[in-house]
Order: sequence, then structure tokens, then C-alpha cells
Amino acid sequence: GGVPTALTALHTHDAHHGHANGVEVAALTGDISAPADVRFELTAQKQSVTLTSGAIVEAWTYNGELAPQLRVKQGEMVEVRLVNKDIEKGVTIHWHGYNVPNAMDGVPGMTQNIVRPGEDFTYKFRADQAGTYWFHSHQQASEQVGKGLFGSLLVDPLRETEETDSELVVIQHTWRTSQGQLKAFGNEDQKQFKQVEPGNKIKLRIINTDHQSQKYRLQGTDYRITSIDGMQILEPEPLENQTSFRIASGGRYDVTFTMPDHPVQLLTGGSSGAGGPSILFHTGIPPEHSELGEESREFDLAEYGKPLANDLTSAAAFDREFTMIMGNRLGFYNGQLRFLWTINGKVHPYTPMFAVKEGDKVKTTFVNRSLAEHPIHLHGHHMTVLKKNGREVKAPWQTDTLNVLPGESYEVAFLADNPGMWMDHCHNLDHAATGMILHLMYD
Ligand code: C2O
Ligand code: CU
Repeated sequence: GGVPTALTALHTHDAHHGHANGVEVAALTGDISAPADVRFELTAQKQSVTLTSGAIVEAWTYNGELAPQLRVKQGEMVEVRLVNKDIEKGVTIHWHGYNVPNAMDGVPGMTQNIVRPGEDFTYKFRADQAGTYWFHSHQQASEQVGKGLFGSLLVDPLRETEETDSELVVIQHTWRTSQGQLKAFGNEDQKQFKQVEPGNKIKLRIINTDHQSQKYRLQGTDYRITSIDGMQILEPEPLENQTSFRIASGGRYDVTFTMPDHPVQLLTGGSSGAGGPSILFHTGIPPEHSELGEESREFDLAEYGKPLANDLTSAAAFDREFTMIMGNRLGFYNGQLRFLWTINGKVHPYTPMFAVKEGDKVKTTFVNRSLAEHPIHLHGHHMTVLKKNGREVKAPWQTDTLNVLPGESYEVAFLADNPGMWMDHCHNLDHAATGMILHLMYD
């Protein structure tokens, strides 16, 4: 089913050498007047797609595909023309985790107008951040992301620091299909098999596009988590066979392992990380059946990696400090009495605001006193995680989407270095749709 149209790189000039050398991160917020090194076109369109089980998804897609991939080289100037063919309520593209100039952030009504059927909008930004990212529509995101308006954005580093023999993008989503809700990796909702040579280094780029965090597990090998939300983890230690890890809604992990002489399996699904799609890596003859072993433990990022020092981890004094308490209460939203997800007791537009000046070091404490997890997603900036539940984390890591479980608290910091008007919201997009949103504004 479906007519996957290849993603067309319409024009590249010297894409892999071009402007890459000498590009400074400072270019991030700034100048996008240089000519594009690489151009893409994405057409938002309805397209019915068949999963490997035969279940049919009446999807809303970019280019008629489930999760098209944009791949560029760090430093390139990227131009993406979005065309809306037939999505009635209009679309945009938000570059999740990518610290683009504010006007390119894809938030309708705030950074741009909605792109209605027959209209187009051209995004342009310098691909300064290497790593695994994704993009999605930010117009009625709960519905549009659910139906498939997303894809991956992969940026290859200028200098490769890790050797990889093969890699796989695992873009995980729960589809509403003709057979009910099904979890899939791309359009694969069953077990997939991949043959790999023993000794090969495999890299998985896992992207969670769902509203909730998802648990994953690797069975049959030790492995490492080498990058979180596109940001490299310094000297990651090996995690033992059967360790599970949880990726926030919107979050990405790069996971690497060396293929042993026996099968390895990536699982996801229920809270145990089983019962959904899986990938079985084998060295020639796939085993007839595989059993799910015991989960050894759930990985805790607060205990991982090597401390990363930056001027936020060492900041003696922050210029601004905020506390955001997430809770629930019954209240009215759009004229309906309902169970609300609140920040400091309020829903948007009454939620607090981060008011900052360019250059500020900002510290925020997120406390979850509600009954559900809240993946906090800050646009345009990465947050450095300093403390979890009052204790310093072993190695501060950077994230754009921090999953805060009920009862947890986190202290995070960010540098206000990307002027504009930004959203900070719960990436459970249903929670965001009922007001769990605040704004970051620069004076
Ligand atoms: Cu991935 Cu404001 O969202
Ligand atoms: Cu939430």
C-alpha cells in the first residue's frame, strides 16, 4: 500500500565540503543569508500505508512515507520547502531539539503562520548540531504527530569519533490502524530480522515519537548509550545484557553494540519492554524462537557517563531561577469541566513565563506532583540536568526533552543564547493540547 515517493535532495553543491569548515556554533541564532548547501522538499499529504502485518494506517505524512529521513552533514546550510497538499487544518514543521533561529521553529501563531492546503513555507537553518533529531508538525500536534506527520533529521558530524559498521534508524510510533493501535518501528510492526557479521559495530538511532515514554531493552549483548537527544555522552560505560532504558516522548538515544556470535534482540512494548515490535540481529541462521529473559535493571541516566563540565554545571550564581510544579486539578478548559494538567496550578495562558535576557544563565526546578509523567520539552535550547531528586547527577547531561516521573524533581539549567519567543511544554501532546504549556521570552 502507499506510494512512497523518494525524498529528493533537489540540489547539492559540494555538500560534504562546502561551508562546513570553520563554522562556529555562534552562527546558530544568526545569519541564514548564505546560500543553501542542501535542499529538500516535504509535501504534507494524506496517504494510506500498510504495515508489515497487513494493518492499514490512514496516515498523514510528509511525502507519502512513514517517517522520511533528512540526512545532512554538520555545518551545511539546509533549506526545506514544506508544501501542504491536503491537510485541511494546515501544517508546519518543528525541528525537535534543533536550536534553529526563532523564525524557523515551526510554531503556528507564534513563529509563523499555518501553512494551509496549497500553500508553502521554506525553512532554512545551519545544521550546527551533529546527531539524531526529528521533526514534526506543530499544528494540532497531538492529532498530526499521532497520524504520522514526522520524520528523522540526521546530522553527520564533521569528524566521526566512533567507528560504526552499520546503523539503523528505529523510529518508533504507535499507529491507529484498521486493526486497532499497533506499535511499530517505521512500518514494521512485527519482528524484523537483520543479518550482521560477528564483530561488527552496530549503531541504533532510536527515536520515540509517541506521547508517552517507552521502554526498550537489548537482549544478548552488553551495549552503550552513546548519545541522548543528539548530545554525545562522554565515555559511556557498557550496560549489561537485559538492561532496559526509557526514552521520553520526543527523545532520542543512540545505542551501540558489537555483534557477538549469537543473536541479539531489541525489544519494546509494554512497561517491561516486550510485546511490541522487535529487531532480531543474527549472524546467519535466525533462531526459530527467542525467549524473553529477565530484565536486569532499568538504566538511570543520573548515574551514567563522565561528568561534563560547562559554564552551567559550574555556575556559582544563576541570573534567573524558576520553580515549575506540575500537578493536577479539576477545572474548566475551553468551557469544559475536565481533569487538568497544571504548572504552578495553572493552565495556558495563565501559566508562568520564563522571562530572560540574552546571555542569562537560567536555572529551573521541575517538580512533578501529579499522577502522570511529563516529558518537558524546551524549544530552541538544550537543558543541562544538574540534580535529580535533590541529589547531584553523576554526569550532567544535556537534553531537550526531560521525562519527569510522578514524584520526581529535577534541577536543570540552560543558557539563554537563542533570542525569540519559545515554547516549553509537556510532550505528552494531549497534555499540551489542554494547556500544559509555558513560554520562554527574551526582553
Ligand atoms: Cu516535539 Cu513543541 O514539540
Ligand atoms: Cu504532561
